[in-house]
Amino acid sequence: MRIVYHDVVIVGSGLAGLRAAVEIAGKHDVAVLSKLHPLRSHSGAAQGGISAALGNAGEDSPLWHAYDTVKGSDFLADQYAVEVMCNDAPRAIIELEHMGVPFSRLESGRIAQRPFGGHTSNYGRAPVRRTCYAADRTGHVCLNTLYEQSLLRNVSFYAEYQVLDLCMSDGAVNGVVATDLKTGEIMIFHARSVVLATGGYGKAWKTTSNAFANTGDGLGIALDNGIPLQDMEFVQFHPTGLYQLGILITEAARGEGGILRNGEGERFMERYAPSIKDLAPRDIVSRSIYEELRYGRGAGPLKDHVLLDLTGLSKKAIAEKLPEIESFAKTYLGVDPVQAPIPVQPTCHYAMGGIPSDVNGRVTRDSEGSEVSGLWAIGEVACVSVHGANRLGSNSLLDLIVFGRRAGKDINRYLDRVCLAPLPLDIGRGLQAVRQVDALKRRRTGETVHQIRSDLQRVMMEYVSVFRDEEGLKKAVGDITLLQERAARLKVVDQGRVFNTELLEAIELQHMVNYSKAVAVAALERKESRGAHSRDDYPKRDDGSWLRHSLYYFEKGGGYRYEQKPVDLSLASRYSMFVPKERKY
Ligand code: FUM
Repeated sequence: MRIVYHDVVIVGSGLAGLRAAVEIAGKHDVAVLSKLHPLRSHSGAAQGGISAALGNAGEDSPLWHAYDTVKGSDFLADQYAVEVMCNDAPRAIIELEHMGVPFSRLESGRIAQRPFGGHTSNYGRAPVRRTCYAADRTGHVCLNTLYEQSLLRNVSFYAEYQVLDLCMSDGAVNGVVATDLKTGEIMIFHARSVVLATGGYGKAWKTTSNAFANTGDGLGIALDNGIPLQDMEFVQFHPTGLYQLGILITEAARGEGGILRNGEGERFMERYAPSIKDLAPRDIVSRSIYEELRYGRGAGPLKDHVLLDLTGLSKKAIAEKLPEIESFAKTYLGVDPVQAPIPVQPTCHYAMGGIPSDVNGRVTRDSEGSEVSGLWAIGEVACVSVHGANRLGSNSLLDLIVFGRRAGKDINRYLDRVCLAPLPLDIGRGLQAVRQVDALKRRRTGETVHQIRSDLQRVMMEYVSVFRDEEGLKKAVGDITLLQERAARLKVVDQGRVFNTELLEAIELQHMVNYSKAVAVAALERKESRGAHSRDDYPKRDDGSWLRHSLYYFEKGGGYRYEQKPVDLSLASRYSMFVPKERKY
C-alpha cells in the first residue's frame, strides 16, 4: 500500500480548510485532500456575505455583533467562542481584502455592507449593515482567492481523493486512509496533525440548498472512531429556497429590500417579527412560512409556497447586487424578479451541530473537553459552538475564516513544540479499508444506493425538518435504524476502478444514515423548542432542563449513547444582556 507523508493533512478544501492551509504553509509541509476540485467546494455557493462590525455603513461594534449572535442562537452558543469570533471579524475581513477578495464597495471606496437577518445595532434596536459582500457571489470570490493564496504558498493538493478513515496510534490521530477516485487506489496519508474540514450534511434531506458532495463524511468517520457529535438536532432551514428545487435565494435579497408575501399578497412577517420583519433570524422566518401554509395562505394552485417580492427594487439594483439570483430565478423557474415575485420555500441549508471542537479547532471527545490528540475540526463539520441552536446569516463564512486561521496557528504551535517525529503508523486501517471496499464490490444481492438514499431523504424531510414531535421522531429513529441495516447490505453494480461514483455514493450513504440517526435521536431527546429545533409537543424553551449541549456517541452494533455538556455563559457574567431570556424581534 502506498504511503505518503505530510506534516499536516487537511481533509476538505472549502474556506475553512484553505484558510488553515494558508496559515500553515511555509512553516510546515501541508497537504489538502478533497473529493472535489477545490474550486467546487460548497463554500463557493455562499451568496450573501460575511459579517463583521466594520461600521462602514453605520455605527457598529463587535459586542453588538456578539449579542446578536448569542440571541440568534437562542442562547445555546458558547459565549467565549462567540466573543472570539466577533472580535476577530474586522481584522479577518481586512486580511481577506489584502489577500485579494474583490468586495463590493461604497461610494467612499470602503467595503460595502448590507443588512442581514438578526444583525442589529445597539442590542436589537434596529437592523444594521454588517454583512460585507461581493454582489451575491461572496463565497465564490473568497474561495478563489484562498485557493490562489494556497497555490502561491505551495500547498500540496490531492483533488478527487475520498477519505475513508482516520489512522490512529495509541489513541492519537496520525493520518488518514483515502482512495484516489481517478484510479481507485487506496493509500495512506501519514501525518502529525489531521484536520477535518469536510463541510455540511444537508444531502440527507430531500429539499436542500446543499451540493451533492455534502454528505457529512467527516461526521461519519468521527462517529466510527468513538468521537461524539454535538447539538445534531439543530439543522437550519433557510427560508428562501427556489420552489421545488431548494436552490438558495440569498437572504441578501431581503437585506436589499425584498419582501416575503403569502398567497394573499400580505407581508406576513409583520405578524411574526413586528420590529425587524423579513430580517428576523432564519428559524423564525422559516417557521412563519410554514405557519402561513398551515393556515392555507400559501401561493399557487397547491398553496404550498410563498413569494419573495423584489419588484420594489430597481432593475439596476438587482443586476448589480443580486445578479446570481436573478439568473437562477430566470433559468430554473422562468421568473424575471424585476417583473414578478419569486416562488420560494424553506430549504435545508446548514448544520449548527457537528464534531465538538474548541476555539483552536481541537477536537474534544467528552463533556470535560478532553482532547483527541492529533485531530482538529473546523468549518461546518465542527461545532465550536458559535451558532448554538440557530445560526445568523453571514456568520458562517466568518466562522470558517476565523477558526480556520486559529486552527492553523494552533497546529503550527503544536508541531513546533510537541513532537519531532510522526507517531509510528498502523497500516491496519488501510488494509481494513481495502477489505471493506472489496466486500462491497463483491456483493451481488441487495438494494442500490439510490433506493435507500431516497427513503432516507423522505424520512428526514417528513419527520426531522422544521416542526417535530415525539411520534414523528420515534418513527424517524425506527426507520433510520432499518435504513442503517439496509445500507449495510447494499450492492454496487459498477465494478470499475476509475471514477467509480457508485462506490463513492455507497460510502457516503453509510455516513448519511449514521449521522441522520444522531440528528433524530438528539431531536427526540430534547424536550423543548429552541432555535431551529421546534417541537409541537414542547413549544416552549426550557432553560432549567435544556440549556445544555447534547452529545451523541455511536456504539458498535447499532446502539448509541446520549450525554449533555454545559453551555459557556461567560459574557453573561460580565454583561447582563447576555443572560438568557425570551427572544423577541
Ligand atoms: O442567504 C445567504 O446568502 C446565505 C448566507 C449564509 O448562509 O450565511
